[in-house]
Amino acid sequence: MSETSLHANGVTSVSMVTIKVNGQVLRAPEGANLLTVLRQAGFSVPSLCYLEGLPGIGACRLCLVEIAGVPKLQTACTTAVRDGMEIYTNSARVREARREVLQLLLGDHPNECLFCQRSGDCELQALAAEYGVRQKQYEEMLRHFEPDLSSPALAYDPEKCVLCQRCVRVCSEVQEVNAISLVRRGIKTKVSPPFEMPWAESGCTFCGQCTVVCPTGALTEHDDTARVWQALNDPDRYVVAQIAPAVRVTMGEAWADSRGVSRDEIPEDFSERIVAGLKALGFRAVFDTQFSADLTIMEETHEFVERFKRGERLPIFTSCCPAWVRFVELYFPEQVEHLSSCKSPQGMLGALLKTYYAQKIGVDPARITVVSIMPCTAKKFEASRPELGRDGRPDVDIVLTSRELERLMAQAGIDPGKLEPQPFDSPLGESTGAGAIFGASGGVAEAALRTAYYLVSGKDPAPLEFEAVRGWDNLRTATITIDGTAVRCAVVSGLAGARRLLESGEYKQYDFVEVMACPGGCVDGGGQLRPEVKAARGLHAQKRAAGLYAIDQKKEIRLSHRNPAIQKVYAEFLGEPGSSTAHHLLHTHYQPQDAYELVAATREKEG
Ligand code: SF4
Ligand code: SF4
Ligand code: SF4
Ligand code: FES
Repeated sequence: MSETSLHANGVTSVSMVTIKVNGQVLRAPEGANLLTVLRQAGFSVPSLCYLEGLPGIGACRLCLVEIAGVPKLQTACTTAVRDGMEIYTNSARVREARREVLQLLLGDHPNECLFCQRSGDCELQALAAEYGVRQKQYEEMLRHFEPDLSSPALAYDPEKCVLCQRCVRVCSEVQEVNAISLVRRGIKTKVSPPFEMPWAESGCTFCGQCTVVCPTGALTEHDDTARVWQALNDPDRYVVAQIAPAVRVTMGEAWADSRGVSRDEIPEDFSERIVAGLKALGFRAVFDTQFSADLTIMEETHEFVERFKRGERLPIFTSCCPAWVRFVELYFPEQVEHLSSCKSPQGMLGALLKTYYAQKIGVDPARITVVSIMPCTAKKFEASRPELGRDGRPDVDIVLTSRELERLMAQAGIDPGKLEPQPFDSPLGESTGAGAIFGASGGVAEAALRTAYYLVSGKDPAPLEFEAVRGWDNLRTATITIDGTAVRCAVVSGLAGARRLLESGEYKQYDFVEVMACPGGCVDGGGQLRPEVKAARGLHAQKRAAGLYAIDQKKEIRLSHRNPAIQKVYAEFLGEPGSSTAHHLLHTHYQPQDAYELVAATREKEG
């Protein structure tokens, strides 16, 4: 019953075979992962450990299915499709076995749904409801562990961990950072950095990709919503916000249903509704991180052109992704000198809000609280870095991820989808299309190329689009000729690709290297809303990126150096790109550290 397709060159490709699922005949590729095939055909099969694109490991036992002629139930995620298979995904036997697995998982799980950050968005809780588990069947055998709250970016509560290993696998197989693993044995098993060193001091880059895939409340972003409420309720505080590019094409997913908007459409720009929501919460002003993305382009491109002319410390590495910066600092300390000295857009805007803006409105910067709304957990870490501030004050006080923004609005009973849009505040709220595309992998390189073209040739590029740096491959390269000079660019998304580029020495072939730690860029950042089907990632991020490119297309001004608000801030305050004021406020120093030395130090401490 199987058929084999032959390519023109005679190489055998996929054989299609026939299987039967719950009595329905299906064609499927021979050897394909059964769980993926079942889900693609619309059969609902639960899972807590499977991750699309990686081999199944059979850790959670929830994807059990019945296969005719096979005595024991099988885990679909570790079963390959064979011709003639007859599968039952929802028989009484299967449902009973899954219920039993859930009971075992809940036997050592705390009854904390009332207080848990993931309540209402927890895969374990949802499965317990779906399988009618309404009380624990086994005597409770809780495992007692201390949570790890050491990191400003992440929080880990081992008691809520179901040991599915999604986090470990994303960290080792997708990001190839290998910062965490399962440690200890038996009921004491938990996820941890090596030698149970605190997360904050470990080799973790804080990219947060593990928090996106964790099915429970075990591994989450460090929750800073209470700090925002505290600031908003303090009459002495002047609380302002900034919103990152990727957030505006993501939050519509949270409030799509109330507006009757399909999640399948290219997302609209939700920024002005978020502004309205934040104003309703009590924020005094809301600014646009796209403005400071334009500012980053002015500073970074100026730095690049200067270094390029002098042939100095090439390639330049972009520095707007704090997880990538930490990755270089920890794992490739000898390459730190390649990083641009620019702060990220969030840091630049924070610095301007506490200087230029504070002077304009006549408010003591010590009274200003800057809250950033970011798609990223690493931005929380970045804001806490002592070098990103002045006079003992951070540039940015609190960072909320997209997920925390959703919770903040829910706590206040505000649905921004129903509010009248409100514009960003001036003068740090105007942005160009170049600033918008920062949120997609390749966007920083493209925005920089648009302005570099102008700086080198005195002309704006035509067309404005640099298609070669767009796309979804982990590594894209392009050589752009500006006035007869070739500029060799590489764009990397995901830390696995970054590691390969640095380890192989291939980075030396380029002049400009953009790296975003999260695969796909900030649109799929570690602080972003989790997709509907938790294990199937990628497509939603591509839609978000398409939303950013649509914003770019619609903008009247699409080049950072043409932004009148940017021109004004240089004229009134900063002087020229690269000036001493610009250096003092908008640039910093990144520090080589050695992840392996950190581990060795912990080992020594432990004797
Ligand atoms: S992780 Fe899920 S099941 Fe566990 S307490 Fe939190 S919401 Fe409840
Ligand atoms: S935040 Fe990133 S680097 Fe850190 S443990 Fe999670 S996946 Fe690994
Ligand atoms: S922390 Fe979350 S993702 Fe990691 S093993 Fe535990 S439950 Fe799974
Ligand atoms: S065992 Fe198959 S999804 Fe967990």
